[in-house]
Amino acid sequence: MGPQPNFMTLASQLPLFLPTVPPPPCEKSGVVYTRPWAVDLVLDLAGYAPEADLVAAVAVEPAVGQGSFLGPMAERFAASCRRLGRPWMDGASAVIAYEIDPVAAQMARDVTVNRLVASGVPHRNAVELTQAWVRVGDYLVDAPRLPRADYVVGNPPYVRLEEIGAEALAYYRNAYPTMRGRADLYIAFYEAALRQLAAGGVCAFLCADRWMSNQYGTELRRLITKNYAVEVVVGMHRADAFEDDVAAYPAVTVLRRSVQEHAIVASLDPGDPNTPGLGIVPVLRGLRDGRRTEPVPGLRAARIDGWLEGADPWPCTSPERVALLRRLEAEFLPLESDATGTRVGIGVASGCDRVFITQDAESVEASRLLPLALVGDTLTGAVAWSGHYLVNPWDATGLVSLGRFPRLEAYFERHAAEIKRRHVALRRPEAWYRTIDRVDMALTARPKLYLPDMRAVIHPVLDHGDTYPHHNLYFVTSTTWDMEVLGGLLLSAVGQFFVEVYGVRMRGGWLRFQAQYLRRIRVPRPADLTPAQAMELRAAFRARDVARATSVARAIYRIGHEIPVG
Ligand SMILES: C[S@@+](CC[C@H](N)C(=O)[O-])C[C@H]1O[C@@H](n2cnc3c(N)ncnc32)[C@H](O)[C@@H]1O
Repeated sequence: MGPQPNFMTLASQLPLFLPTVPPPPCEKSGVVYTRPWAVDLVLDLAGYAPEADLVAAVAVEPAVGQGSFLGPMAERFAASCRRLGRPWMDGASAVIAYEIDPVAAQMARDVTVNRLVASGVPHRNAVELTQAWVRVGDYLVDAPRLPRADYVVGNPPYVRLEEIGAEALAYYRNAYPTMRGRADLYIAFYEAALRQLAAGGVCAFLCADRWMSNQYGTELRRLITKNYAVEVVVGMHRADAFEDDVAAYPAVTVLRRSVQEHAIVASLDPGDPNTPGLGIVPVLRGLRDGRRTEPVPGLRAARIDGWLEGADPWPCTSPERVALLRRLEAEFLPLESDATGTRVGIGVASGCDRVFITQDAESVEASRLLPLALVGDTLTGAVAWSGHYLVNPWDATGLVSLGRFPRLEAYFERHAAEIKRRHVALRRPEAWYRTIDRVDMALTARPKLYLPDMRAVIHPVLDHGDTYPHHNLYFVTSTTWDMEVLGGLLLSAVGQFFVEVYGVRMRGGWLRFQAQYLRRIRVPRPADLTPAQAMELRAAFRARDVARATSVARAIYRIGHEIPVG
């Protein structure tokens, strides 16, 4: 870790809470307070309850604000301490609470003293406990030196990159490597909290859910799936968990430093806005333990065997989808697999399509022109080649020598200024006329499926071996699959299900596919299909009949009609 930043510099760079009442709606400033029912839900799911020994345990609230969590924690602590018959001051190290804003911290102290006194703690002890518990400072700076925690609970601040000063940002990124790309500050809070956990310790946060499926959450997901267990995720897209309107959707995540067993994914859509969290904890516990429980209005939940792998997105907005995904991942093969000789790739990027793509068949030697399929050529569902060529500087052995192709040489020399400006040419000046990607000369002649990127629905199209894909087209080749049968499977609502859960949905509803996720689409082995199923899929693909493809796919994947796949 680098030198510590000056605390006051950090504090002045971070937006501070202004003590107006009610608090400002401020997802922007990272200060959003939590409603009591949501606090109780988080504490209950964490097991921070009077039945536990909350005197010996260490509980951390890393960003207390005005004490929405700390107040109820104080009550639960007091009840536990009384039940155990321990002296109050034995709990002086039982809570570590941080707040960067001294004004908010003072309000949190007042709340805590009041709650302790109301719970029967003598005033003097209540003040002493609170003094010992609440610290004004930057949790992210201090966390690596704090004692191991049995509980880390709270609602960390949401602060976008642009609102964090350069010095603080550099410090946080260095200390918390999962805070990558456009990651919000709460990512660093997750990492700090997880690292602070003792063996068996639990981190329960109410927080924006974006990191579970977006790009900037990738490294955090990887950290969690590698070292921690996901116990519970409760998405709350419509439950009113915060005191202010916030643009982010919240979710409760319960993560433990232990081995992954079952996980519960739930989504809460409260019928009664006053008691949204009421009664759901016993239901979730029952589900976890495999007991039948009464349904709670507005709650959908599923038990998952284990958890998703690596840094894959967590489609937690729908419990049914997570459960289905997890089953399909366990039971079927990834699309790209040596076992089926199937490969997924992406077409060629040139870095300067204006020069490298032409419709002029006379521009260079005929052998240097590669028929290129563009996204627009695939829209009808068959490849309708628009007559574009790649001006191809590659052959089977590598980059061609320009001396062998005078017209190609003249063409590239004419455009030299433009193509030499490309990053790839600057990096490798001797290969200044290369495209960014190398062309795989054997690919053109192979039958393959094209999957155009950035569409609302998956759209597999068959190329009989006539064209080479441009870079917005993914392609699938296989030594064992009949391309039309595989095309039928991918065309189905099950294929769509995979790209929806793995893909990133962009503004306007487009799905950004990525080769790494297309590779993970699960498929059976070709030999596991009955001849009738293969025939149906082929016919559905030829007719571009999604419903027909879906009904075969449901049988193959054993997906009942009750599960929303499309
Ligand atoms: C989203 S609010 C949550 C407050 C409280 N936990 C609740 O749920 O109502 C986050 C709080 O974190 C504080 N904060 C921001 N950056 C911090 C940091 N680096 N260390 C400690 N507290 C911080 C903010 O001042 C704010 O009060």
